[in-house]
Amino acid sequence: MTTHKIDTKISVGSHLMQNFSEKLKELNPSSVVCLIDCTILKLYGNTINSGFKKLGVVASVIPVSASEKSKTLNGDLINLINQIIEKDVERKSVFLSIGGGTVTDLGGFIGSVLLRGIKTVYIPTTLLGMVDASLGGKTGVNVQNNGMLYKNMIGTFYQPEIVLCDTDFLATLPQKELKSGIGEIVKYFVGWNSPKLLDIQSIFNNVKSGQTLRPIIEACQKIKMEIVASDPNETGQQREKLNLGHTIGHGIEGEKNGTVSHGVAVVWGLLGESYMSMLDGYLSKEEFEKIKMSILSLHIVNSITFSTPKVLDIMQKDKKNKTYVAIKKIGITLPGVKINPDNLKKSLAFLNGNKNL
Ligand SMILES: NC(=O)c1ccc[n+]([C@@H]2O[C@H](COP(=O)([O-])OP(=O)(O)OC[C@H]3O[C@@H](n4cnc5c(N)ncnc54)[C@H](O)[C@@H]3O)[C@@H](O)[C@H]2O)c1
Ligand SMILES: [Zn+2]
Repeated sequence: MTTHKIDTKISVGSHLMQNFSEKLKELNPSSVVCLIDCTILKLYGNTINSGFKKLGVVASVIPVSASEKSKTLNGDLINLINQIIEKDVERKSVFLSIGGGTVTDLGGFIGSVLLRGIKTVYIPTTLLGMVDASLGGKTGVNVQNNGMLYKNMIGTFYQPEIVLCDTDFLATLPQKELKSGIGEIVKYFVGWNSPKLLDIQSIFNNVKSGQTLRPIIEACQKIKMEIVASDPNETGQQREKLNLGHTIGHGIEGEKNGTVSHGVAVVWGLLGESYMSMLDGYLSKEEFEKIKMSILSLHIVNSITFSTPKVLDIMQKDKKNKTYVAIKKIGITLPGVKINPDNLKKSLAFLNGNKNL
């Protein structure tokens, strides 16, 4: 397996925001343009502004709301670009994004095309951002067409220079978003047997003392960055493994229309795809029960009802969904497995309204 050097400097820990300007100075910027989630600006504005004061160059702060509309080309994005070009941007400027995946996807995209690409830095503030969205170089914005929202339809592969994960941000993260991040961590557990289940179980208790989350976040980052380094521009099949749980997960997320968070939908996807792997003959009944009990012990999901035809319809419209990542046992998966429509229907029936999970 060939690997490509990715130079992103990733740091994880608590109190990192007290010195974030020192990190930025390492890039020697002529100015900084900062896109920031307006909730984060409200909660952490003092720390962030005092960091900018120590920077020694102009820092222009542009607040955005963390909504899909903000990252939609024919939504709010044009206004945002107009605001940015009025700032002091040049080739040696740094484009900083502070927020969850919505803001880092958007800021990463803008930074990657602004003046044909300037240096970008991410400060993720959600658990999902720290373990997934801020890593790997995928940037993206949406397009609205004929009443349909095409998510991440326009984007680039562009690696940030620095990703700074201050776990102190997680203390204010709403439970729904925390669960969403944990959902994505469960994917790493099922697919790579890391982090350990006990560690994942401890997240709810440890979120207020951020430092203890560091090893869990780092374990996930290590998995993702190794895969990304082997296939940075997704030309092969390696990165597909990261879609574990997402084939059925996306169908359920779409059907639930925002009421189930992305990461929680992925957990349902992991359960459904484990069942499908068993029906397809890849996973033993014992190993399936082990995965099921492990997932249920986290109390992130209990029961769900949905319209199966609608889930199937959403899955069919997603062109990536002809195959799925089958599970052979915890830690061993097989990407590119063709979906058997009967087994898919049985797997959705297993999830739908099942109170005995
Ligand atoms: N590029 C990638 O590889 C990749 C991977 C996964 C997801 N994504 C993208 O990430 C986006 C979802 O991002 P997300 O789940 O990180 O959430 P988000 O950015 O949508 O934020 C969720 C909510 O949490 C709030 N919030 C963020 N940090 C907070 C904090 N510390 N305290 C209080 N509130 C806070 C936000 O204001 C928002 O209301 C989607 O657009 C998805 O497409 C990208
Ligand atoms: Zn995901």
